[in-house]
Amino acid sequence: MKTILKSLTLAIALILISCGGDKKTDKFGNPVSDGKENVEATKPEVSEFPLAEKGKEIFEGKGTCATCHKLDIKLVGPSIIDIAKIYKEKNANMVTFLKGEGEPIVDPSQYEVMKANFALTKTFSEEELESLEQYMYSQVK
Ligand code: HEC
Repeated sequence: MKTILKSLTLAIALILISCGGDKKTDKFGNPVSDGKENVEATKPEVSEFPLAEKGKEIFEGKGTCATCHKLDIKLVGPSIIDIAKIYKEKNANMVTFLKGEGEPIVDPSQYEVMKANFALTKTFSEEELESLEQYMYSQVK
């Protein structure tokens, strides 16, 4: 009788352990999602241009790029899409260009206008410049 009771207690203990084991909870005991549910839907954009969202903020914010560059129409400068297409085609490096260390390949006749911005872009970090590049690339399908 004792042994049956023992193994019964053991069995119950095992069941409790195995049930508790696969539910993830935070320190308050609330269930925690492991994030797997949403990965599929957002995957392509997130993995290809992880900095694009940050780049958009800089482009429209402190970079003031949006004053001259619109998505698909030429304003003062070429459109974002035109620039990104040409950079992709030629496999050019936008970060180098924005550091003032490259050559203009989109519209060299207007280079002086763009060049004035290097005073600002030269103060940006490598990651900020990469964000700008990723944002522009992410606008081309
Ligand atoms: C005062 C207007 C103006 C602003 C502000 C401006 N641009 Fe430009 N941009 C231009 C003009 C004009 C050109 C075309 C000349 C050229 O191709 O270099 C250009 C060209 C470019 C090119 C293509 C360069 C090439 O290889 O020919 C890139 C990339 C670019 N701009 C990025 C940016 C980014 C990023 C910002 C914000 C940090 C910015 N621009 C802000 C006017 C501007």
